[in-house]
Amino acid sequence: MKDWTHGYVADVSYDYSFFPELAPINIVFNLLDKSFFPPSLEKFTYCELGCGQGFTTNILAATHPQAEFWGVDFNPTHAAEAQRLAQAAQLKNIHFCDQSFAEFLQADTPKFDYITLHGVYSWIGDENRRIIVELLQQKLKCGGAVYLSYNTLPGWSAVMPLRDLMVQYTGGSGDSTVQRVEKGLAFAKQLQEVKARYFRENPTVKYDLEEMQEDSRNYLAHEYFSRHWQPLYHSEVVQQLVDAKLTFTTSADIDDQFHNLKLNEEQLNLLAGITDSTLRETIRDFMFNSRFRRDLFVKGPIKLTTLEQVELLSNCRFALVVLPEEIEYEIELIGRPIKLDETIYQPLVAALADRPQTLRELMRQPSLTKLDFAAILQALKILITTYSVVPALSEAQEEQRKQAVAGLNAAILKRARFGEDTQILASPITGGGIDISRSEQLFLLAHMRQVDPVQFIWNILQVQGEKLIKDGKVLDSPEENQAELRIQAQRFADLRLPLLGRLGLV
Ligand SMILES: C[S@@+](CC[C@H](N)C(=O)[O-])C[C@H]1O[C@@H](n2cnc3c(N)ncnc32)[C@H](O)[C@@H]1O
Repeated sequence: MKDWTHGYVADVSYDYSFFPELAPINIVFNLLDKSFFPPSLEKFTYCELGCGQGFTTNILAATHPQAEFWGVDFNPTHAAEAQRLAQAAQLKNIHFCDQSFAEFLQADTPKFDYITLHGVYSWIGDENRRIIVELLQQKLKCGGAVYLSYNTLPGWSAVMPLRDLMVQYTGGSGDSTVQRVEKGLAFAKQLQEVKARYFRENPTVKYDLEEMQEDSRNYLAHEYFSRHWQPLYHSEVVQQLVDAKLTFTTSADIDDQFHNLKLNEEQLNLLAGITDSTLRETIRDFMFNSRFRRDLFVKGPIKLTTLEQVELLSNCRFALVVLPEEIEYEIELIGRPIKLDETIYQPLVAALADRPQTLRELMRQPSLTKLDFAAILQALKILITTYSVVPALSEAQEEQRKQAVAGLNAAILKRARFGEDTQILASPITGGGIDISRSEQLFLLAHMRQVDPVQFIWNILQVQGEKLIKDGKVLDSPEENQAELRIQAQRFADLRLPLLGRLGLV
């Protein structure tokens, strides 16, 4: 029988997550920030390759009803799960294909403005990497952007043998992948306990093994147990993508630009002396011993003039995704404590707590007029790195977005009743997902149905044989559970509901 998996793990589904870096608004903001002309956010085509269960693509399709989305994943269970949610949400602008990259290459599709691949490129063999490059070459529009994440060298060099060990030890066992994960972890621990020299001479591997013990088994199966697992140097990836006429532009992770603050003068001077930009970026990975990169490439990048950049960034809107009282003014940035200047940050947060605003609108705020464009932008970026603020979509067509998002959120909330824990709802304001726990989802559902939240949630918990836990202790009696639910319901109504309202979820 032909093996459609190409050695990729297929007997266990991948975790169900939303990745904000894949959102068009995030790609656009990062490109603008580095002065590159971005693809359109108005009418566009978007494709996620290796989309897993398609949760990110579904969220993006709901928050961009004017655009067309494709999700490709050869695992039929992934594609079926992705389609199930899209159908429940009545999304009309999404196409999930249970095709391999090779089959999708032959498929009749339009060209795309955005192509994204998260957690794919290092986990497939050379042949599939070549197919992806061909896909990018054939299916990306000129001016289109590619988000590509991959495991990076040199950060993985010490841990690669640990992965090889677990895969080889469990290889011929005929066990399921999850069983192989357990056996592989247990054997690695045994080897560490008998003080194998590999562990002694690579002391950091111990921490990796400890972390792996905590990770979800589905995640570990996909992360480490595919036949192919190839961390790559940035320079190798850049070289491979030359054939697709792609140019590296910047990281999709805004934190990345703050990392240079970690470098001392000698290190910065050493980097500055390297004239080749690809080599410089690769050597920067040596400075940080980078393990994972989220790179943005563009086919035919166009540099903006400073005036154009300022104009386009001024039109970007930003939304506060936490309560103002949750903002911490003493934060850790790249592992160092810093104190945010409250005379700058408090009025900025207060303005955004009122409503999402463009940078231009923020500059007109009386409380912020003493700050210039660069200072406000820098403060916004810091708030983005602390997950307090996100770039948001423009106000135009917000009503249309609200309708599409309502269908998807209703489908997700319905699942929360059955115990499925997606922890994310879509926001028509941010164009992405908002973190929201299962219990908050149930409070929101009760609010939307205009029923007593305590009775509503208690009925669901009872049917599922669940009880609340308070201060580490299981609440036994119905009275204790209901009293705790009453407190939580009040907290939700006072604090979370107004925030969810501002983010367009109610
Ligand atoms: C590690 S998962 C990442 C899923 C998703 N992008 C995420 O980050 O949540 C990699 C995905 O790529 C898919 N995949 C691997 N090789 C493929 C191929 N040759 N053609 C299509 N899909 C493939 C797998 O089924 C899997 O869902």
